[in-house]
Amino acid sequence: MAKEAHERKTEFFTVARTTEVVSGRARVVFLRGIEIALFNVNGDFYAVDNLCPHEGGPLAAGTVGGRVLTCPWHRWQFDLKTGCSPVNPAISVQTYPVQIEGERIKIGMAVD
Ligand code: FES
Repeated sequence: MAKEAHERKTEFFTVARTTEVVSGRARVVFLRGIEIALFNVNGDFYAVDNLCPHEGGPLAAGTVGGRVLTCPWHRWQFDLKTGCSPVNPAISVQTYPVQIEGERIKIGMAVD
């Protein structure tokens, strides 16, 4: 009999306080061995892999206009909410769900 696909659940982990990520800036956090760029865009928080899918540029050092993040190395762009490139839908960066609990910023990650 075929084994059922293992269902993974998402757990949320505290990675920073809201006061530690200034509006318009990003901070690098590490969660379960993954380097994540955590952005504050006018009080809305977004989390994406810090390593650009192109050549590994540091996305936390990129610039943000609206919700669009531009990589500092070769200017690839990504929507911070969906992770998708606004110009090439075949390109995307991993995004992570963010929850705010009081002052705590939590990032969701699938766990076994
Ligand atoms: S490394 Fe990000 S665009 Fe090239």
